[in-house]
Amino acid sequence: MSHSTSMRRVAAISVSALAALALTGPAALACPPEPTLRSETPRDLKIGSAVWGQRDLLDHDRKNGGEFQRILGAEFNSLTPENDMKWAEVHPEPDVYDFSGADAVVAFAKAHRQEVRGHTLLWHSQNPQWVIDAAADWTCEEARDVLEDHVRTVVGRYAGEIYEWDVANEIFQDDWDEGGVRLRTEANPFLKACAEDPVALLGDVFRWAHEADPEAVLFLNDYNAEGINAKTDAYYELAQELLADGAPLHGFGAQGHLSLQYGFDESIQENFERFADLGLKVAVTEADVRMPLGEDGEPDAEQIALQAERYDKMLQACLDVPACTSYTVWGFDDGRSWVPGVFPEGYATIMTEEFEKKPAYHALLESLTEATPGRSPRTPPGLNR
Ligand code: G3I
Repeated sequence: MSHSTSMRRVAAISVSALAALALTGPAALACPPEPTLRSETPRDLKIGSAVWGQRDLLDHDRKNGGEFQRILGAEFNSLTPENDMKWAEVHPEPDVYDFSGADAVVAFAKAHRQEVRGHTLLWHSQNPQWVIDAAADWTCEEARDVLEDHVRTVVGRYAGEIYEWDVANEIFQDDWDEGGVRLRTEANPFLKACAEDPVALLGDVFRWAHEADPEAVLFLNDYNAEGINAKTDAYYELAQELLADGAPLHGFGAQGHLSLQYGFDESIQENFERFADLGLKVAVTEADVRMPLGEDGEPDAEQIALQAERYDKMLQACLDVPACTSYTVWGFDDGRSWVPGVFPEGYATIMTEEFEKKPAYHALLESLTEATPGRSPRTPPGLNR
Protein backbone atom coordinates (compact mmCIF):
# COMPACT_ATOMS: atom_id res chain seq x y z
CA MET A 1 0.00 0.00 0.00
CA SER A 2 1.40 3.44 -0.98
CA HIS A 3 1.87 6.15 1.60
CA SER A 4 -0.90 8.27 0.06
CA THR A 5 -3.35 5.31 0.07
CA SER A 6 -2.72 4.61 3.73
CA MET A 7 -3.14 8.33 4.56
CA ARG A 8 -6.46 8.34 2.70
CA ARG A 9 -7.57 5.29 4.69
CA VAL A 10 -6.64 6.93 8.02
CA ALA A 11 -8.54 10.02 6.96
CA ALA A 12 -11.57 7.93 6.00
CA ILE A 13 -11.53 6.15 9.36
CA SER A 14 -11.26 9.47 11.17
CA VAL A 15 -14.21 10.88 9.23
CA SER A 16 -16.40 7.86 10.00
CA ALA A 17 -15.32 7.99 13.66
CA LEU A 18 -16.33 11.64 13.79
CA ALA A 19 -19.65 10.80 12.14
CA ALA A 20 -20.28 8.11 14.75
CA LEU A 21 -19.44 10.60 17.46
CA ALA A 22 -21.89 13.11 16.00
CA LEU A 23 -24.63 10.47 15.83
CA THR A 24 -24.23 8.88 19.24
CA GLY A 25 -22.34 11.37 21.42
CA PRO A 26 -19.05 11.01 23.27
CA ALA A 27 -20.36 8.34 25.64
CA ALA A 28 -20.55 5.84 22.77
CA LEU A 29 -16.76 5.93 22.42
CA ALA A 30 -16.00 5.84 26.14
CA CYS A 31 -14.93 2.53 27.67
CA PRO A 32 -17.75 0.89 29.62
CA PRO A 33 -17.08 1.06 33.37
CA GLU A 34 -15.43 -2.03 34.73
CA PRO A 35 -17.99 -4.38 36.27
CA THR A 36 -17.98 -4.71 40.04
CA LEU A 37 -19.69 -7.20 42.33
CA ARG A 38 -22.20 -4.51 43.08
CA SER A 39 -22.93 -3.57 39.48
CA GLU A 40 -23.49 -7.23 38.57
CA THR A 41 -25.69 -8.18 41.50
CA PRO A 42 -29.09 -9.41 40.32
CA ARG A 43 -32.59 -8.82 41.69
CA ASP A 44 -32.67 -7.11 45.07
CA LEU A 45 -29.82 -9.21 46.46
CA LYS A 46 -27.36 -7.38 48.67
CA ILE A 47 -23.66 -8.09 48.23
CA GLY A 48 -21.84 -7.01 51.34
CA SER A 49 -18.59 -6.76 53.26
CA ALA A 50 -17.81 -6.48 56.93
CA VAL A 51 -15.96 -3.31 57.84
CA TRP A 52 -14.57 -2.08 61.11
CA GLY A 53 -15.69 1.52 61.49
CA GLN A 54 -13.18 2.49 64.16
CA ARG A 55 -10.15 0.89 62.57
CA ASP A 56 -10.94 1.05 58.87
CA LEU A 57 -12.96 4.23 58.45
CA LEU A 58 -11.98 6.49 61.36
CA ASP A 59 -8.28 5.77 61.79
CA HIS A 60 -7.14 7.54 58.66
CA ASP A 61 -3.50 6.63 59.11
CA ARG A 62 -4.24 3.05 58.05
CA LYS A 63 -2.14 2.15 55.06
CA ASN A 64 -3.98 2.23 51.74
CA GLY A 65 -6.92 3.97 53.41
CA GLY A 66 -7.99 5.72 50.21
CA GLU A 67 -7.88 2.60 48.06
CA PHE A 68 -9.62 0.55 50.75
CA GLN A 69 -12.52 2.97 50.90
CA ARG A 70 -12.73 3.26 47.10
CA ILE A 71 -13.07 -0.53 46.76
CA LEU A 72 -15.51 -0.78 49.66
CA GLY A 73 -17.77 1.79 48.02
CA ALA A 74 -17.43 0.45 44.49
CA GLU A 75 -17.81 -3.30 45.08
CA PHE A 76 -20.51 -3.63 47.73
CA ASN A 77 -24.06 -2.41 48.28
CA SER A 78 -24.24 -3.60 51.89
CA LEU A 79 -21.96 -3.18 54.92
CA THR A 80 -21.85 -5.04 58.22
CA PRO A 81 -20.02 -3.38 61.12
CA GLU A 82 -17.54 -6.13 61.97
CA ASN A 83 -17.21 -5.08 65.62
CA ASP A 84 -18.67 -1.62 66.17
CA MET A 85 -22.20 -2.68 67.14
CA LYS A 86 -21.05 -5.41 69.52
CA TRP A 87 -21.69 -4.88 73.21
CA ALA A 88 -18.06 -4.26 74.21
CA GLU A 89 -17.69 -1.50 71.63
CA VAL A 90 -21.08 0.18 71.71
CA HIS A 91 -21.94 -0.19 75.41
CA PRO A 92 -18.61 -0.17 77.25
CA GLU A 93 -19.99 0.99 80.64
CA PRO A 94 -23.43 0.54 82.22
CA ASP A 95 -24.60 4.05 81.34
CA VAL A 96 -22.27 4.77 78.44
CA TYR A 97 -23.05 4.09 74.80
CA ASP A 98 -20.32 4.82 72.25
CA PHE A 99 -21.72 4.98 68.75
CA SER A 100 -18.68 6.51 67.07
CA GLY A 101 -17.56 3.42 65.16
CA ALA A 102 -21.10 2.32 64.26
CA ASP A 103 -22.01 5.84 63.15
CA ALA A 104 -18.96 5.87 60.86
CA VAL A 105 -20.14 2.71 59.11
CA VAL A 106 -23.70 4.00 58.73
CA ALA A 107 -22.46 7.37 57.41
CA PHE A 108 -20.12 5.69 54.89
CA ALA A 109 -22.98 3.46 53.75
CA LYS A 110 -25.30 6.44 53.26
CA ALA A 111 -22.67 8.36 51.32
CA HIS A 112 -22.16 5.37 49.01
CA ARG A 113 -25.83 4.34 48.64
CA GLN A 114 -25.25 1.13 50.58
CA GLU A 115 -27.41 -0.59 53.16
CA VAL A 116 -26.34 -1.81 56.60
CA ARG A 117 -26.70 -5.22 58.31
CA GLY A 118 -26.66 -4.80 62.08
CA HIS A 119 -24.45 -7.18 64.09
CA THR A 120 -25.20 -8.20 66.89
CA LEU A 121 -27.46 -7.83 69.96
CA LEU A 122 -27.11 -11.05 71.93
CA TRP A 123 -23.84 -13.01 71.88
CA HIS A 124 -21.69 -14.91 74.37
CA SER A 125 -18.52 -13.18 73.13
CA GLN A 126 -17.25 -9.59 73.17
CA ASN A 127 -19.35 -8.58 76.15
CA PRO A 128 -17.91 -5.71 78.24
CA GLN A 129 -16.32 -6.47 81.58
CA TRP A 130 -19.16 -4.77 83.45
CA VAL A 131 -21.65 -7.25 81.97
CA ILE A 132 -19.42 -10.20 82.84
CA ASP A 133 -19.02 -8.91 86.42
CA ALA A 134 -22.67 -8.04 86.95
CA ALA A 135 -23.87 -11.30 85.42
CA ALA A 136 -22.26 -13.26 88.25
CA ASP A 137 -25.33 -12.61 90.38
CA TRP A 138 -28.05 -11.55 87.96
CA THR A 139 -31.59 -12.73 88.39
CA CYS A 140 -33.39 -13.35 85.11
CA GLU A 141 -35.39 -10.16 85.70
CA GLU A 142 -32.17 -8.11 86.07
CA ALA A 143 -30.62 -9.66 82.97
CA ARG A 144 -33.79 -8.95 81.00
CA ASP A 145 -33.81 -5.29 82.08
CA VAL A 146 -30.19 -4.78 80.99
CA LEU A 147 -30.74 -6.55 77.68
CA GLU A 148 -34.00 -4.75 76.93
CA ASP A 149 -32.42 -1.33 77.50
CA HIS A 150 -29.52 -2.26 75.22
CA VAL A 151 -31.66 -3.66 72.42
CA ARG A 152 -34.12 -0.76 72.41
CA THR A 153 -31.31 1.83 72.57
CA VAL A 154 -29.08 0.37 69.85
CA VAL A 155 -31.83 -0.74 67.45
CA GLY A 156 -33.76 2.47 68.10
CA ARG A 157 -30.78 4.66 67.27
CA TYR A 158 -30.50 3.19 63.79
CA ALA A 159 -34.22 2.60 63.18
CA GLY A 160 -34.92 2.87 59.45
CA GLU A 161 -31.21 2.67 58.62
CA ILE A 162 -30.58 -1.05 59.07
CA TYR A 163 -32.26 -3.54 56.78
CA GLU A 164 -31.30 -6.72 58.66
CA TRP A 165 -30.20 -7.34 62.23
CA ASP A 166 -28.33 -10.38 63.54
CA VAL A 167 -30.39 -10.33 66.73
CA ALA A 168 -29.11 -13.55 68.30
CA ASN A 169 -25.65 -14.77 67.37
CA GLU A 170 -24.16 -18.23 67.97
CA ILE A 171 -26.68 -19.19 70.64
CA PHE A 172 -26.21 -22.94 70.12
CA GLN A 173 -23.15 -24.96 71.06
CA ASP A 174 -21.55 -27.27 68.52
CA ASP A 175 -22.32 -30.98 68.63
CA TRP A 176 -18.73 -31.69 69.75
CA ASP A 177 -19.01 -29.30 72.73
CA GLU A 178 -19.70 -30.71 76.16
CA GLY A 179 -23.44 -31.24 76.32
CA GLY A 180 -23.79 -31.29 72.53
CA VAL A 181 -26.05 -29.00 70.57
CA ARG A 182 -27.98 -27.04 73.14
CA LEU A 183 -28.50 -23.38 73.84
CA ARG A 184 -25.44 -21.67 75.33
CA THR A 185 -26.96 -21.29 78.77
CA GLU A 186 -23.48 -21.34 80.34
CA ALA A 187 -21.35 -19.07 78.16
CA ASN A 188 -24.01 -16.50 77.27
CA PRO A 189 -24.64 -14.41 80.44
CA PHE A 190 -28.20 -13.48 79.46
CA LEU A 191 -29.26 -17.00 78.53
CA LYS A 192 -27.56 -18.21 81.71
CA ALA A 193 -29.54 -15.87 83.94
CA CYS A 194 -32.75 -16.99 82.21
CA ALA A 195 -31.79 -20.64 81.78
CA GLU A 196 -35.14 -21.78 83.13
CA ASP A 197 -36.85 -20.53 79.97
CA PRO A 198 -34.28 -19.25 77.48
CA VAL A 199 -36.72 -19.46 74.57
CA ALA A 200 -39.04 -16.98 76.28
CA LEU A 201 -36.09 -14.58 76.61
CA LEU A 202 -35.18 -15.05 72.95
CA GLY A 203 -38.73 -14.33 71.86
CA ASP A 204 -38.69 -11.10 73.86
CA VAL A 205 -35.33 -10.01 72.40
CA PHE A 206 -36.89 -10.29 68.95
CA ARG A 207 -39.99 -8.41 70.16
CA TRP A 208 -37.92 -5.54 71.62
CA ALA A 209 -35.90 -5.25 68.44
CA HIS A 210 -39.06 -5.32 66.31
CA GLU A 211 -40.72 -2.61 68.40
CA ALA A 212 -37.61 -0.46 68.11
CA ASP A 213 -37.43 -0.87 64.31
CA PRO A 214 -40.49 -2.49 62.74
CA GLU A 215 -38.91 -2.46 59.26
CA ALA A 216 -35.75 -4.39 60.10
CA VAL A 217 -35.56 -8.07 59.14
CA LEU A 218 -34.53 -9.94 62.29
CA PHE A 219 -32.13 -12.89 62.08
CA LEU A 220 -30.73 -15.81 64.00
CA ASN A 221 -27.09 -16.23 62.90
CA ASP A 222 -24.41 -18.88 63.42
CA TYR A 223 -21.30 -20.64 62.11
CA ASN A 224 -21.28 -24.33 61.07
CA ALA A 225 -24.79 -23.57 59.93
CA GLU A 226 -24.44 -23.88 56.18
CA GLY A 227 -25.62 -27.44 55.62
CA ILE A 228 -28.13 -29.70 57.27
CA ASN A 229 -26.53 -30.90 60.51
CA ALA A 230 -27.27 -31.26 64.21
CA LYS A 231 -26.84 -27.53 64.83
CA THR A 232 -29.09 -26.40 61.99
CA ASP A 233 -31.66 -29.03 63.03
CA ALA A 234 -31.68 -27.35 66.43
CA TYR A 235 -32.15 -23.93 64.78
CA TYR A 236 -34.93 -25.31 62.63
CA GLU A 237 -36.78 -26.49 65.74
CA LEU A 238 -36.11 -23.26 67.61
CA ALA A 239 -37.35 -21.19 64.67
CA GLN A 240 -40.60 -23.15 64.61
CA GLU A 241 -41.00 -22.67 68.36
CA LEU A 242 -40.37 -18.93 68.19
CA LEU A 243 -42.73 -18.50 65.25
CA ALA A 244 -45.43 -20.52 67.03
CA ASP A 245 -45.03 -18.13 69.99
CA GLY A 246 -45.58 -15.20 67.64
CA ALA A 247 -42.02 -13.90 67.94
CA PRO A 248 -40.99 -11.56 65.08
CA LEU A 249 -38.25 -13.84 63.78
CA HIS A 250 -37.68 -13.16 60.09
CA GLY A 251 -34.43 -14.75 59.01
CA PHE A 252 -31.74 -17.38 59.39
CA GLY A 253 -28.12 -16.53 58.63
CA ALA A 254 -25.33 -18.99 57.85
CA GLN A 255 -22.05 -17.22 58.59
CA GLY A 256 -20.04 -19.17 56.01
CA HIS A 257 -16.65 -19.28 57.76
CA LEU A 258 -15.14 -22.21 55.86
CA SER A 259 -11.73 -23.86 55.95
CA LEU A 260 -10.18 -25.96 53.20
CA GLN A 261 -9.16 -28.38 55.94
CA TYR A 262 -12.73 -29.60 55.94
CA GLY A 263 -15.15 -30.71 53.25
CA PHE A 264 -17.96 -28.60 51.88
CA ASP A 265 -21.50 -29.49 52.89
CA GLU A 266 -23.44 -29.62 49.64
CA SER A 267 -26.77 -29.52 51.49
CA ILE A 268 -26.56 -25.74 51.93
CA GLN A 269 -29.29 -25.03 49.37
CA GLU A 270 -31.57 -27.65 50.88
CA ASN A 271 -30.91 -26.16 54.29
CA PHE A 272 -31.78 -22.66 53.08
CA GLU A 273 -34.93 -23.99 51.43
CA ARG A 274 -36.26 -25.57 54.62
CA PHE A 275 -35.90 -22.26 56.50
CA ALA A 276 -37.45 -20.43 53.54
CA ASP A 277 -40.37 -22.87 53.70
CA LEU A 278 -41.01 -21.64 57.25
CA GLY A 279 -41.48 -18.18 55.74
CA LEU A 280 -38.02 -16.95 56.76
CA LYS A 281 -35.43 -15.06 54.76
CA VAL A 282 -31.97 -16.60 54.60
CA ALA A 283 -28.51 -15.08 54.10
CA VAL A 284 -24.80 -15.84 53.92
CA THR A 285 -23.61 -13.38 56.52
CA GLU A 286 -19.83 -13.70 57.08
CA ALA A 287 -18.29 -15.63 54.19
CA ASP A 288 -14.58 -16.41 54.11
CA VAL A 289 -12.56 -19.47 53.12
CA ARG A 290 -9.30 -19.94 55.02
CA MET A 291 -6.57 -22.53 54.48
CA PRO A 292 -3.30 -23.81 55.96
CA LEU A 293 -0.42 -22.14 54.12
CA GLY A 294 2.98 -23.46 53.06
CA GLU A 295 6.24 -22.46 54.76
CA ASP A 296 6.46 -19.48 52.40
CA GLY A 297 3.11 -18.31 53.71
CA GLU A 298 1.53 -18.83 50.29
CA PRO A 299 -1.29 -21.11 49.12
CA ASP A 300 -0.78 -23.50 46.21
CA ALA A 301 -2.71 -23.37 42.93
CA GLU A 302 -5.09 -26.13 43.95
CA GLN A 303 -6.02 -24.31 47.17
CA ILE A 304 -6.60 -21.07 45.29
CA ALA A 305 -8.96 -22.81 42.86
CA LEU A 306 -10.77 -24.66 45.64
CA GLN A 307 -11.24 -21.43 47.56
CA ALA A 308 -12.92 -19.86 44.53
CA GLU A 309 -15.18 -22.88 44.21
CA ARG A 310 -16.28 -22.72 47.87
CA TYR A 311 -17.03 -19.00 47.78
CA ASP A 312 -19.00 -19.59 44.63
CA LYS A 313 -20.96 -22.56 45.97
CA MET A 314 -22.19 -20.47 48.89
CA LEU A 315 -23.18 -17.72 46.46
CA GLN A 316 -24.95 -20.21 44.17
CA ALA A 317 -27.05 -21.46 47.08
CA CYS A 318 -28.04 -17.87 47.79
CA LEU A 319 -28.79 -17.08 44.15
CA ASP A 320 -30.86 -20.24 43.76
CA VAL A 321 -33.08 -19.60 46.79
CA PRO A 322 -35.29 -16.55 46.21
CA ALA A 323 -35.60 -15.99 49.98
CA CYS A 324 -31.85 -15.31 50.18
CA THR A 325 -31.50 -11.59 50.77
CA SER A 326 -27.79 -11.01 51.21
CA TYR A 327 -24.32 -12.47 50.71
CA THR A 328 -21.68 -10.80 52.84
CA VAL A 329 -17.92 -11.43 52.90
CA TRP A 330 -16.24 -11.01 56.28
CA GLY A 331 -13.83 -8.37 55.05
CA PHE A 332 -12.64 -8.33 51.44
CA ASP A 333 -8.84 -8.18 51.79
CA ASP A 334 -6.33 -10.36 53.63
CA GLY A 335 -4.76 -7.31 55.26
CA ARG A 336 -7.80 -6.89 57.47
CA SER A 337 -9.00 -10.46 57.92
CA TRP A 338 -9.62 -11.78 61.47
CA VAL A 339 -8.36 -15.24 60.42
CA PRO A 340 -4.56 -15.11 60.95
CA GLY A 341 -5.07 -13.75 64.48
CA VAL A 342 -7.08 -16.80 65.46
CA PHE A 343 -6.06 -19.76 63.26
CA PRO A 344 -2.74 -21.00 61.85
CA GLU A 345 -4.39 -20.37 58.47
CA GLY A 346 -4.83 -17.47 56.08
CA TYR A 347 -5.54 -16.27 52.52
CA ALA A 348 -9.20 -16.28 53.57
CA THR A 349 -10.67 -13.32 51.68
CA ILE A 350 -11.34 -12.47 48.02
CA MET A 351 -8.43 -10.00 47.60
CA THR A 352 -4.82 -10.03 48.68
CA GLU A 353 -3.33 -7.55 51.12
CA GLU A 354 -2.41 -5.44 48.07
CA PHE A 355 -6.06 -5.55 46.88
CA GLU A 356 -5.26 -7.87 44.01
CA LYS A 357 -8.42 -9.72 43.02
CA LYS A 358 -8.18 -13.48 43.57
CA PRO A 359 -9.90 -16.15 41.45
CA ALA A 360 -12.51 -16.23 44.24
CA TYR A 361 -13.43 -12.62 43.41
CA HIS A 362 -13.72 -13.41 39.71
CA ALA A 363 -15.84 -16.51 40.42
CA LEU A 364 -18.31 -14.38 42.39
CA LEU A 365 -18.36 -11.68 39.73
CA GLU A 366 -19.06 -14.18 36.98
CA SER A 367 -21.83 -15.96 38.89
CA LEU A 368 -23.52 -12.68 39.75
CA THR A 369 -23.40 -11.60 36.12
CA GLU A 370 -24.72 -14.90 34.83
CA ALA A 371 -27.59 -14.73 37.32
CA THR A 372 -28.88 -11.48 35.85
CA PRO A 373 -31.41 -12.15 33.07
CA GLY A 374 -30.19 -10.93 29.70
CA ARG A 375 -26.62 -10.46 30.82
CA SER A 376 -23.53 -12.47 30.06
CA PRO A 377 -20.12 -12.06 31.68
CA ARG A 378 -19.02 -9.83 28.81
CA THR A 379 -22.07 -7.55 28.77
CA PRO A 380 -21.15 -4.08 30.04
CA PRO A 381 -22.72 -3.28 33.39
CA GLY A 382 -25.22 -0.53 33.97
CA LEU A 383 -28.08 -2.07 35.87
CA ASN A 384 -28.56 -2.69 39.56
CA ARG A 385 -26.49 0.19 40.82
O1 G3I B 1 -11.81 -4.72 72.88
C1 G3I B 1 -10.71 -4.09 72.25
C2 G3I B 1 -11.03 -2.65 72.00
O2 G3I B 1 -11.33 -2.00 73.19
C3 G3I B 1 -9.85 -1.99 71.27
O3 G3I B 1 -10.26 -0.72 70.84
C4 G3I B 1 -9.45 -2.78 70.05
C5 G3I B 1 -8.17 -2.23 69.46
O4 G3I B 1 -7.57 -3.12 68.59
O5 G3I B 1 -9.26 -4.14 70.39
C6 G3I B 1 -10.47 -4.64 70.89
O6 G3I B 1 -10.72 -6.00 70.84
C7 G3I B 1 -10.80 -6.60 69.57
C8 G3I B 1 -12.24 -6.73 69.08
O7 G3I B 1 -12.33 -7.53 67.93
C9 G3I B 1 -12.91 -5.41 68.81
O8 G3I B 1 -14.23 -5.42 69.23
C10 G3I B 1 -10.17 -7.95 69.71
O9 G3I B 1 -8.80 -7.80 70.00
C11 G3I B 1 -10.37 -8.78 68.48
O10 G3I B 1 -9.87 -10.07 68.71
C12 G3I B 1 -11.84 -8.83 68.14
O11 G3I B 1 -12.00 -9.76 67.11
C13 G3I B 1 -13.25 -9.86 66.45
C14 G3I B 1 -14.00 -11.12 66.88
O12 G3I B 1 -15.19 -11.24 66.11
C15 G3I B 1 -14.39 -11.07 68.34
O13 G3I B 1 -15.35 -10.09 68.56
C16 G3I B 1 -12.97 -9.91 64.94
O14 G3I B 1 -12.39 -8.69 64.54
C17 G3I B 1 -14.26 -10.20 64.17
O15 G3I B 1 -13.97 -10.45 62.83
C18 G3I B 1 -14.95 -11.43 64.74
O16 G3I B 1 -16.18 -11.60 64.07
C19 G3I B 1 -16.94 -12.75 64.43
C20 G3I B 1 -18.41 -12.39 64.27
O17 G3I B 1 -18.71 -11.25 65.04
C21 G3I B 1 -19.29 -13.56 64.66
N1 G3I B 1 -18.94 -14.75 63.92
C22 G3I B 1 -17.54 -15.12 63.96
C23 G3I B 1 -16.65 -13.96 63.53
C24 G3I B 1 -15.20 -14.37 63.51
O18 G3I B 1 -14.74 -14.66 64.81
